[in-house]
Parts: sequence; C-alpha cells; structure tokens
Amino acid sequence: MKRPWWEDAVFYQIYPRSFCDSTGNGIGDLDGIRAHLDHLSWLGVDALWLSPFYPSPMADFGYDVSDYCGVDPLFGTLEDFDRLLVDAHARNLRVIVDWVPNHTSDAHPWFLQSRSSRHNPKRDWYWWRDDRSDDEGGFGAPGSAGRRPNNWLAAFPGVGKSDFPPAWTWDQETGQWYLHLFLDHQPDLNCHHPEVQSAMAGVLRFWLDRGADGFRVDVVHAIGKDPRLADLPDDLAAIPMCALNDDPSTHPILARLRQLLDGCQPPARMMVGETVLPSVAQIVAYYGSPDGKELDLAFNFHPLRSPWSARSWTRRIDEAEELIGASGAWPTWVLSNHDTSRHRTRYGGSEARARAAAVMLLTLRGTPFLYAGEELGLEDAVVAPDRRVDPAWPGRDGCRAPLPWDAGPGHGWAGGPDAWLPWPPEADSGRTVVEEMDDPDSTLNLYRSLLRARRGSQALRAGSFTWAATDGDVLAYRRKQGRDVRFVAVNFSDSPSSLDLPPGPWEVELSSARAAADSRWDGPSPSGRIEVGPDEAVILRPARAAQLDRGR
Ligand code: NOJ
Repeated sequence: MKRPWWEDAVFYQIYPRSFCDSTGNGIGDLDGIRAHLDHLSWLGVDALWLSPFYPSPMADFGYDVSDYCGVDPLFGTLEDFDRLLVDAHARNLRVIVDWVPNHTSDAHPWFLQSRSSRHNPKRDWYWWRDDRSDDEGGFGAPGSAGRRPNNWLAAFPGVGKSDFPPAWTWDQETGQWYLHLFLDHQPDLNCHHPEVQSAMAGVLRFWLDRGADGFRVDVVHAIGKDPRLADLPDDLAAIPMCALNDDPSTHPILARLRQLLDGCQPPARMMVGETVLPSVAQIVAYYGSPDGKELDLAFNFHPLRSPWSARSWTRRIDEAEELIGASGAWPTWVLSNHDTSRHRTRYGGSEARARAAAVMLLTLRGTPFLYAGEELGLEDAVVAPDRRVDPAWPGRDGCRAPLPWDAGPGHGWAGGPDAWLPWPPEADSGRTVVEEMDDPDSTLNLYRSLLRARRGSQALRAGSFTWAATDGDVLAYRRKQGRDVRFVAVNFSDSPSSLDLPPGPWEVELSSARAAADSRWDGPSPSGRIEVGPDEAVILRPARAAQLDRGR
C-alpha cells in the first residue's frame, strides 16, 4: 500500500507573526510567507504548518480565535491565503492550518451570545456552572474563590507569578462561572454539543474546500470533558488541567470530525494533534482504533523535554518505538516550537549539540516537524521586561523572535529593524538566511543536506529501526528498508568516542560537525570502528552505494 504523504514528509512550522513582514508594520504576514516559498523549496521541506492567522484580539497571539473562517487584517486577507496556497502547491509544498477547537476568544460571536443570558440558545456551547453550594463544600460570597465549581487550574501563570490561575471566571451579569483551560479570554467550548460539532465541521469544510491539506489540532486531548467536572485529586491539583485532561469522550468526537477528512475530494488530507499528556501510552490512543480512525499523527513532546543525554534520549526513542510504532501508528519528532525554548537554547546554547540533534530529528523513524529558525541554529532572543508581550510566564517570546532574512538593518522585514519582538542573538553577525546560504558549513546548509539525505533514502524515511550496541554517552541505530541501509551515531559527550560498526565498509554520508573540525571522513572507513567527535552525529551509508552515487 502506498504510504500516506505525511509519513514521508518533513513539516515546517511557521509562526506567521515571526516569519516575514511584507507590509512594514513589524508583524509577519501571509504575503511575507509567500515571498519565501522558493527558499523553503530550496531548503527541501515538504509541508508547511501555519500557526493561527485568523481574526483574533491576540490575547494569546491568535490562539484566541474570534472568527474561524477569516484572516486577521494583520496577516492579510482570505485572497492572500488562497494565493499562498496556490503558490505553495505549485512548488509541491503542502499546507496545513491550525485548528483550535477547545476554546474560542471571548470576543467570538458565539461566546458573546452565550454570555448574554442564561437562556441564550448558545448558552450550552460553553461550560457554564453555578456557584459551588454549601453542601458541595462551597463557602464565601457568591462568585468568590470558595465557590468555584471545581479546583481545576488554567495554564499560564501571570507575569512574575509561579502559581497557575484558576480555570474559572465569574460572570457578574449572569451570575455563573465559565471554564477556560487557558486565559480567561479563551473560554472552553462544549465540544459535546451537537451544534458545536456541526459548527466545527463547517469550519473544517471551509478550509478543506479552499484546498488546505489538513490541520494541526490545538490541545486536542482537552476537547472532551467529563461533564461532572469533578475536582482533581490533591496530588494532581497543582497541575493545569490542559496538561491532564484525557477524557474518553474526546475519541468519538474526534473520530466523527475525522470522517469528514476521509470523505474529501481530492483525498489525502491529514490531521496532526497536539497531545500534551503525561505518558506516551495516553498519546497513542489519539491515533484512534481500527473502528474509529482519529489523528494521522500525534505530537509527542516527551523527547522535546529530554535533556542532552544518551540515556534520556534512548528512553524517549524506546517509548516512541515500543508504544507508538509497535501499535502500527506513526511517530512524530519535534525539537522546537512556538511554546518552548529553542532546542539550541535548551542545550546550553551549544550549536554543535543543536546540529547533532537535528541529525537525530531527521533520521529517527517518524515524521519530523521543524520550527522556522531552527534550521539557522537560532537561539531564543533575550527579551527585556519592557518588550515582553506573551501573557504566559516565564514567557514564550524568546522562541518567537522574528526570523532574520538578511544582513540589512531590517533583516529583510519591510518595516526595518523595529519588529514586534527583538531579533535573536547573532542576527547582526551572520546568522541570517542569506549569509548562511553562502556558507557551506552553516547550520542552514546542514539542514538542507539532511533533508536531501532523507529524501534520497527509503531507509531513513520508512525503514525499520534497530539499536546498535554502544558505550557511554553515545547512541547508535540502524535504519533499513530493503537493500537501503543507514547507520547513525550520536555522541552526547564532550569528548570523542569510538564505536564498532556493523560489517562494512561504510562511508560517512553526513556529519553534524563543521568540515574544518572533521578531517576523518575522506573515503570508506578503514576499520570496523568509527570515532565520533564531541557532540557530533554522523550518518553512514555502505561505501559501495556511496561510490555508485558519486559515479552517477
Ligand atoms: C497550544 C498552543 O500551541 C499555544 O501556543 C496556545 O497558547 C495554547 N494551545 C492555547 O491555545
């Protein structure tokens, strides 16, 4: 059977505000993305995921949607979206859009109606609850903290705070609480309600009809809730509910919405879900079952939280292989995104580690998701307190810094240097797209070579995964599909390490080290061992295949 395209693809996440500004207002937009499609083809990615560009008050920079079927004027127009899609498709780049079904903005007309009266037909589209009564343990004045319907916490501690705020806000006018797993400006939709489900089906149809290739589904594990909305037990009560909610009722809701994608013409539209859950076993359930297919791919963020250590990564890879892969589902791999410090920053600012991690990301079994800017080796920007804009604490501004395209003062942004967030470090000293394109040793060119190596190898895209024996802080694995085989070794330590190779001869196809630091790999490996430098990763291929390849 032909593999679905999303299992072979490498996705590239674009946070539209941060990609490129074409209008001069310091905020990236859809035309800014369109202007750089040739670059993305040059890089070699297959599909783009666009974070929200819908009309929004921007309390959570677009994840508070006030119209699911439009484009916020900051980002352009629907026609701009259509043009972007046509131009992307013309370059064989697929485009998926973000779908945020768990909550709307409090400025969404649905919520305005729901809030307007207890008897409004849309009242039950959201989660409204009375004060907790004395019998239920409530105390204090109506609408006060002691009367909150349950002990759930929302995400995002306020600026400078360490505690998560309550997940309930009191509405004075109608004398009830509403639930929000995120900001109070992001009320949770009641996705159990048939009318909400059909409204959401309409939203999906809208983007599918325009030609979108699928959806990234925001906090998908949170959309079904146990209607009892019971208190969390004390040992979990300090964790925000958005990181815990895993109610079985989500699955049939998702399976129904998913059928819509399967009935599409042209077919082959996909869904990748954000599943932020405590265990990988819980994540697997969101791929659905043979009776009810749900997601095509589910994000597994456990590796993203892994420190730079072979032991920890071995455990993460085992989990993905044993729990996701063995169930017949296809894993995903992510190192960076718009919610987390960039992986180079997390790995102590070491570019060598970031590069070695990229080799892993693109050679493990599963679909890799890149976050715009990681291919430049960007670190998080340093954001002074007076430039902070994220409502969350300690904040996600650093990883959302604008992408520097060139060495000019505005780095290729139409508005010049004053973008919505400060530039990332080194933007003025060569870490820009144009300058890195010219440097064969740059991280940008490493990613490009990795993408090319992946595209050229069935083993890397689809092959089996087998561990090889190693010592110390090194891991190694083999990928194999038919006669195509690759051997990957990653050294997590700060000293060189040598390891046995399977019967060869082998040749290095690619190393994460810069060429200047790597004089060993000129021809087939002379012995059955290989030395891998500190924080280096290498891809080896059979030497004969390499020679044939060169002869072509
Ligand atoms: C997950 C998104 O990735 C994040 O950016 C957003 O703040 C929350 N969901 C709420 O939508």
